[in-house]
Amino acid sequence: VPASHLRRRPADIIGRADNANHPHIPLPRDLYGPKRRNSRGIEFGERAALTKLVSAIAAEQLAPAGSIAEASDAEANAAVAAALDGFRDWSRTPASIRAAALEKAADLLEARAAHFIALLQREGRKTLDDSVSEVREAVDFCRYYAAQGRELFGEDRALPGPTGESNMLCLRGRGVFVAISPWNFPLAIFLGQVTAALMAGNAVVAKPAEQTPLIADAAVRLLHEAGVPVSTLHLVAGAGRVGGVLVMHPDIAGVVFTGSTEVARTINRALAAKDGPIVPLIAETGGINAMIVDATALPEQVADDVVTSAFRSAGQRCSALRLLFLQDDVADRMIEMIAGAARELVIGDPCDPATHIGPVIDAEAKQRLDAHIERMEQEARVHFAGQTPQGNYVAPHIFELSDAGQLTEEVFGPVLHVVRYRADRFDQVLQSIERSGYGLTLGIHSRIDDTVEEAIERLQVGNIYVNRNMIGAIVGVQPFGGHGLSGTGPKAGGPHYLARFATEQTVTINT
Ligand code: SER
Repeated sequence: VPASHLRRRPADIIGRADNANHPHIPLPRDLYGPKRRNSRGIEFGERAALTKLVSAIAAEQLAPAGSIAEASDAEANAAVAAALDGFRDWSRTPASIRAAALEKAADLLEARAAHFIALLQREGRKTLDDSVSEVREAVDFCRYYAAQGRELFGEDRALPGPTGESNMLCLRGRGVFVAISPWNFPLAIFLGQVTAALMAGNAVVAKPAEQTPLIADAAVRLLHEAGVPVSTLHLVAGAGRVGGVLVMHPDIAGVVFTGSTEVARTINRALAAKDGPIVPLIAETGGINAMIVDATALPEQVADDVVTSAFRSAGQRCSALRLLFLQDDVADRMIEMIAGAARELVIGDPCDPATHIGPVIDAEAKQRLDAHIERMEQEARVHFAGQTPQGNYVAPHIFELSDAGQLTEEVFGPVLHVVRYRADRFDQVLQSIERSGYGLTLGIHSRIDDTVEEAIERLQVGNIYVNRNMIGAIVGVQPFGGHGLSGTGPKAGGPHYLARFATEQTVTINT
């Protein structure tokens, strides 16, 4: 790659995951089995063991990361052409072999989990708990899609037909899929998109977020090592412009995207404006996610679940809570308890195992959040403002709005907005959630069945969580993805996801 294309030199930040000189450090086997424990974090003993392993890797002064190249337009186009070549063989490779490659990738991820955790902490700026959960989720995606794929793509489906004819329904890869992934789950979402497309028989050109290309690079190398041909899976790094080039390529067969609603719209428009075949867009975008808490909720549980949902991962999850509706009879007490719990959170270096909240992803994100906080300080009532350390940190904040309509867009950080409601105005709460047009996650804390049922039936929301926190969807258990402005579906980690990456072919033979 020409030197002029080198943009980043992150050698001081990170070590390469494929560093051949690095000794294999085994992890406790029980930690990363296909069945994860729960979505709440890791046990104390495990935490100590992991911290030791991760610091061991850090202390070893890994070989310099080198640099990541931003692809030129010509290189991005060349990647699509090469993938088109790779597609021919891969689409004819039996599903069992494609699945075996994904399972091998899961094994390799488990074996090198500590290394990926170190990468997630350094490049993705994630805390230990978040990094561990993310490696688990990535492993789960590989195994889940492999298992689903064996069933879906293993045998053509025989259909009934008139005597003398046999009818078969076959699912096949579409061609070259472009996978555009975000920085907030740089391993799990990246691998989720890529492995689904590969399992369905597609070749893939992956364009990771510009903030986290080295994790993507490590994941691609791992898939190549696991048996996915180099010609079938290509990584093209760079800013949004590179994604634009890929999307506009005449020979692509589909796009899978996770990120903002605005970018999803841009991609949709670009695809619609192109000549040639009509190709699908699978988009998972943002949300102004709400939680409704009524007077029957358990206050301690609410405080815990609100703090987890709004502030964990520095609020940088698509699923995170943004808008909390509190029934007015209990609002003061709840706010006091939530602010008390928020006060206990440790903000700091993500590599320090004591940290609950690390930095936001970069200076631009911090600037955007600071500007929002400044605006809220003028327009809303401030209930809590945490101490913000130097650097790209944003401390948790709690603001009370007089009207939910004051929050018009997703604020991607640890900022919680509270709105009070009267019990006899519950309908207005549902209306204001509907009016936002988003529908990703919803939390409900209530012991009244009618309230819960009314919300579930009325609201077009992808993931609803009752009497618990509203983040950390588990692959195959809580398939993830939203409606309306929050995405197109089908849900990642769900039973209908893979089929969307494939075409259907019916073959009728007169025997
Ligand atoms: N899948 C993630 C979660 O459920 C999305 O941000 O938290």
